Amino acid sequence: MNLIYENIISRRSCRSFTDQEISKDNLDLILKAGISAPSGMNRQSWQFTVIRKQANIAKLEKVVGKAANRAENYDFYAPNVIILVSNDPENVNGLADASCAMENMFLMAHSLGIASCWINQLRTICDVEEVRELLDSYGIPSNHIVWGIADLGYAAEIGKEVVKKENVIKFVDSL
Ligand SMILES: Cc1cc2nc3c(=O)[nH]c(=O)nc-3n(C[C@H](O)[C@H](O)[C@H](O)COP(=O)(O)O)c2cc1C
Repeated sequence: MNLIYENIISRRSCRSFTDQEISKDNLDLILKAGISAPSGMNRQSWQFTVIRKQANIAKLEKVVGKAANRAENYDFYAPNVIILVSNDPENVNGLADASCAMENMFLMAHSLGIASCWINQLRTICDVEEVRELLDSYGIPSNHIVWGIADLGYAAEIGKEVVKKENVIKFVDSL
């Protein structure tokens, strides 16, 4: 089978990770895949902020959970690394650009045996004071929206296979 296709269709979101560290070489490949994504008008006005220290991931998790009113049972599923993909809100393609970059990183990670998940809660709460203070401390530009967090790590449990709807594909051949 075509290797790219095989990689695409076998990727699953993962919500349970081991403690195994992702090597810097592999992380660099994943980030290179992220910045190689297409971007509207080639603006590349995004930033990829990498957090590797578990204490820092836990701190962000706590602040996001509180700001999203989900403090009780909220977590990022304890990944080894998170990558925050942010962009200037003036760029109307910010979310689309981030989505292309996130999927590139997920697929690169998967090809290296590293699992991933999109964490979505940050995008609407970046300007909550406690959240913005943390984002500032990471060097994320103060006007940026974090469109997505990429969880990365080795899977403790293989992600559940979901059924992909085939009937969403429509050919217009008869006109
Ligand atoms: C825009 C977007 C936001 C998502 N947000 C979350 C999230 O916050 N938490 C989560 O566990 N999964 C999240 N996911 C993962 C989806 O739940 C997952 O992609 C979907 O169930 C299909 O499963 P698959 O990725 O294994 O194909 C998100 C995915 C996308 C594309």
